Amino acid sequence: MLLKRLKGWELPERAVTPESIFQNRRALLKGLAAGPMVLSAAALAGCSDEASAEADAAKLLASVEPDPSSHLYPVKRNPAYADGGPDRPITDSDLATSYNNFYEFGSHKNISRAAQALKIRPWTVTLDGEIAQPKTIDIDDLLDKMPLEERVYRLRCVEAWSMVVPWSGFPLSALVKLAEPLSSAKYIRMETFMDPENAKGQKQHWYPWPYIEGLSIEEAMNDLAFIATGIYGKPMPRQNGAPLRLAVPWKYGFKSTKSIVRFTFTSERPVSFWEELQESEYGFWANVNPEVPHARWSQASERPLGGDGKIPTLLYNGYAEQVAGLYKGMEGERLFT
Ligand code: MTE
Repeated sequence: MLLKRLKGWELPERAVTPESIFQNRRALLKGLAAGPMVLSAAALAGCSDEASAEADAAKLLASVEPDPSSHLYPVKRNPAYADGGPDRPITDSDLATSYNNFYEFGSHKNISRAAQALKIRPWTVTLDGEIAQPKTIDIDDLLDKMPLEERVYRLRCVEAWSMVVPWSGFPLSALVKLAEPLSSAKYIRMETFMDPENAKGQKQHWYPWPYIEGLSIEEAMNDLAFIATGIYGKPMPRQNGAPLRLAVPWKYGFKSTKSIVRFTFTSERPVSFWEELQESEYGFWANVNPEVPHARWSQASERPLGGDGKIPTLLYNGYAEQVAGLYKGMEGERLFT
């Protein structure tokens, strides 16, 4: 197994220079002047020929379909999740939309431009497995049905960087209710799209595509578990997981799977993408815990994107009050790595 090649996003944050963020940011700010899609296109950092970069961006702009759900945003912020907590300001949107992990488009952070190739319409979401009646729903019908709201959540990547993001979307519990799971269903398996023609990372056969993640039904019914369909008061950018992704802020970021096409309710615990690749380092539960190090680096602190230093990491990323009860009686399980 070519595991050495799989470690791009696992690099501890010290391996990612602040300079690269700065370069990206400059390119983004330049792009902003030309309109929102150039924001995504602005992962042009590193391209020295400005004229061809601009021509490239213009071509991209012309080819990227606008998101038809734009009229739904912004949505009202839920006062129970109004901010990122003390001393945790909301991360600049240009950082959150340009410093991404989305392996389908490349095994590095600078995928925002490549991700514009993601076709977000037509898009359907299938609910199947151990439920009353399997169904496939068009994304725009689903968005019409669901109670959209905004929530500000912290996100802690296993690589020890973090951000604070205003997500728009709906509680995952609303989708579970729509699915009507049978009592035999204990877990939800979430599957990302497959489209190697447009998502070139999926041509890298050593990864077990499609990207799979899973939660227990109890986790999915917890009020914090959220399906995000937008950020910063706008539809979800492709690089952040359009048109819908998971946001489970008490777990490491790799659990928050992007661009979901299928939710399968199952009695068997699903095997996650990273768990299948490197089970010894990435377990199923993957809850944030500063006292349980990754096999190759400490998880005691984190570096907020756009901040100027490190801050201590909190148990369950600071959401222990809401979620610790989910794991009572499971102390024997590998809950944190
Ligand atoms: N989902 C898919 N389908 N593919 C991915 O590569 N990366 C994960 C997660 N969801 C990933 C994914 C990781 S490692 C992180 S940290 C977050 O997405 C990053 O989300 P962001 O790019 O919006 O910050």
